[in-house]
Amino acid sequence: MFNRKSRQNKRAIGEPQVDKDRLPMHVAIIMDGNGRWAKQHNLPKVMGHRAGAESLRDLVRYCAETGIPILTAYAFSTENWKRPQDEVSNLMGLLVEYLYKEVEELNENDVRISSIGQVDALPSEAYEALMAAEEKTKDNKRLTLNLALNYGGRLEILEAVRKLAHDAAAGRLDPVSIDEALFSSALYTAGIPDPDLLIRPAGDFRVSNFLLWQIAYTELWTTPVLWPDFRRAHLEEAIIEYQRRERRFGGRHN
Ligand code: IPE
Ligand code: IPE
Ligand code: MG
Repeated sequence: MFNRKSRQNKRAIGEPQVDKDRLPMHVAIIMDGNGRWAKQHNLPKVMGHRAGAESLRDLVRYCAETGIPILTAYAFSTENWKRPQDEVSNLMGLLVEYLYKEVEELNENDVRISSIGQVDALPSEAYEALMAAEEKTKDNKRLTLNLALNYGGRLEILEAVRKLAHDAAAGRLDPVSIDEALFSSALYTAGIPDPDLLIRPAGDFRVSNFLLWQIAYTELWTTPVLWPDFRRAHLEEAIIEYQRRERRFGGRHN
């Protein structure tokens, strides 16, 4: 079982601590750097992806124990199909393995698995494993682990535009009534609040087509740490920095 109460805080006395009363409600992570990690360790690339799954495991537990209700993890982008076929099939295989291995424990710990992206275009084994995990955990409330799979921010926006245009053409929707709330409800993330914090490990400073609409006012945090080395202590560092920032949303600076 995950701990009900947060695990003993491992930060040293005197070091800044996470303020449990001002946690981000939604943390999004671009899980990047697996290839570089494998190279550093002279291992095949698939071992980097495998090691990355451990990092996700640790963060899911941290979020559930600490009380962060939504964790969105970018696992496979619409552009990642451009990779060599064996890498793509390794990634899909690891996804299936992760889902089958983790689902029982996640379910026992009240974690809901959900997804964003064009998931019905995943290989059927991966799609079926995902649907089974979502179905099994659909009533869980403690944490939503939202997996971005075959996800692209531009595709998401295009699909929303197509859907709304279709409704308008059919006379079911007055174009004048399309506002931010309605548009948001046509995205994969309908009903999910925008991320408060977006983390990119592995040192690159770009969003790589992730949550383009949703990150309008999200706080960004990057670290050179590669994803397979990323653990809860790094997430705590990100949250502490997030809690130091003043979010103004375009309003007046007091
Ligand atoms: C992220 O690691 C995993 C996916 C994109 C699926 P990479 O494979 O992109 O690792 P780097 O960026 O080459 O180090
Ligand atoms: C972003 O990483 C996508 C995922 C982590 C799933 P990439 O490695 O694909 O991004 P770029 O190519 O460096 O922008
Ligand atoms: Mg990468």
